[in-house]
Amino acid sequence: MLAVAVLAGMVSFMPAPPPRAQDIPHDRFINSLADAIDQTALTPREQLGLRLFFDANLSEPAGLACASCHDPRRAFTGNNNTLIGVALGSRSDQFGTRDAPTLMYLATTPRFNRNGLVEKDGKRLPVGGHFWDGRADTLEEQATQPFFNPVEMNNADAPVLIAKIAKGSYAGAFRKVWGEAIFENPDKALDAVAASIAAFERTRVFQPFTSKFDYVMRGQAAFTEQEQRGLSLFTIRQKGNCAQCHTVDAASRDPQKSLFTDFSYRALGLPRSARIPKNADPAFIDLGLCERVPVSLAKPGKPAPDAKPPAGVTPLPEDPAACGLFKTPTLRNITITAPYMHNGFFDHLRDAVAFYATRDTDPARWFPDGKKFNDLPARYHANVDVDTPPYQRRPNQRPQLTNEEIDDIVAFLYTLTDGYTLPGSKRSKPATMTDAITPPRSPNPSPSPPASSPASPREY
Ligand code: HEC
Ligand code: HEC
Repeated sequence: MLAVAVLAGMVSFMPAPPPRAQDIPHDRFINSLADAIDQTALTPREQLGLRLFFDANLSEPAGLACASCHDPRRAFTGNNNTLIGVALGSRSDQFGTRDAPTLMYLATTPRFNRNGLVEKDGKRLPVGGHFWDGRADTLEEQATQPFFNPVEMNNADAPVLIAKIAKGSYAGAFRKVWGEAIFENPDKALDAVAASIAAFERTRVFQPFTSKFDYVMRGQAAFTEQEQRGLSLFTIRQKGNCAQCHTVDAASRDPQKSLFTDFSYRALGLPRSARIPKNADPAFIDLGLCERVPVSLAKPGKPAPDAKPPAGVTPLPEDPAACGLFKTPTLRNITITAPYMHNGFFDHLRDAVAFYATRDTDPARWFPDGKKFNDLPARYHANVDVDTPPYQRRPNQRPQLTNEEIDDIVAFLYTLTDGYTLPGSKRSKPATMTDAITPPRSPNPSPSPPASSPASPREY
């Protein structure tokens, strides 16, 4: 049944316009979220970052904030409430082509480095940077981008954006932190905006380390038998081998050693998503890393995708081996960040895990006519790993993981959600910002994340 539904979803082309969860402007809702956050622990610069992050007046037209696509109640994901796996911008017909990733646990992301990760066999891999293709080196660089991206906040340039902030309710606070004359130089002011947002993103709010997993690592809580089995399957190379890329150090009492990503780039060979409006054009293919144009080559106040690199500069050496590769995301808070993967293909966590186990044993479950890697031109298929677990299987072999083992891994992934309450503890203050926020009753309730639980259908 499930396989039929997935296939039907893939082959039917969506009539325009794609559905949204709801269509009410966000600004009042977003402001109520910002008000709900305990700001006492934040420095003035971080508070400014918070105000900017939640300000729905900074888009063109107004109504869209960073928090619209990065909703704190969903670990800073949410795609502006679309149901198609990718985000909707400030204009009602402008959709992006990628799923908005979580902004949690990004603070220690290394800069992009073409050969920065050395694997056990000596192979060198690209690592680091922000975005699915690593085109921004730092959170500061990243933060200058969405304001000017036409399918996101759509401002024409830095002066337009800065004028909005200078007229806004926290303009005084901005001057206090960055100097009385800050609004006079839009490029400098844009740097200040980016620095404020990045400072906010580096606070404990975004990396609280308060999941059950963290308490277990610190010796304050214990896994159930199923969670413990899931952790083993997750780490053992001959089973899930997930930890090869989604780093975990279960022997360390320091949860910071377990960020569930090594920031490396890999090609998973995901199915093409028919839900993405731009995919109606067969010529459009998101090749990920090999199309990366570094943000540093963009003019201030212009998004990188539109930036022409200065004459004589090649953005990235022509590198076919980088095509189809995307950044490994953290799996912290994964149960509340649906949909999954760069193209938002999976609505359910269990499906994302089952894909690893059955991509190569039962390709017909995921690809029309069972033709693998239908979102990647054939000349790049060799970039997809088919030799290491969990991918080393062939059609009609037994999958690397049984149904029960997939359930065990999903049960373990449930322990990665922040805001765990220790049994018997009475918390006077919420442990995370996500907890601090009570979903508003009106005007704009966000949809509950798609149900995906260990109890979801027990089939591949
Ligand atoms: C219209 C929806 C939308 C808005 C508004 C938006 N983002 Fe994003 N964000 C995305 C998407 C989609 C991506 C992934 C894009 C890519 O990889 O090319 C992303 C990626 C990011 C990343 C990179 C995360 C990582 O894993 O490297 C950061 C950081 C981020 N956004 C912060 C912000 C900030 C700060 C703002 C406000 C200034 C903002 N976003 C506004 C949709 C949005
Ligand atoms: C070879 C490296 C590698 C291995 C092994 C691996 N992953 Fe991943 N994982 C990735 C990459 C890369 C992505 C993002 C791919 C994309 O979107 O194109 C990803 C994405 C995911 C996502 C979606 C995350 C999100 O926020 O959208 C989940 C869930 C996931 N992996 C779980 C697992 C599990 C469970 C295992 C073990 C069965 C596993 N992974 C093994 C590299 C790996």
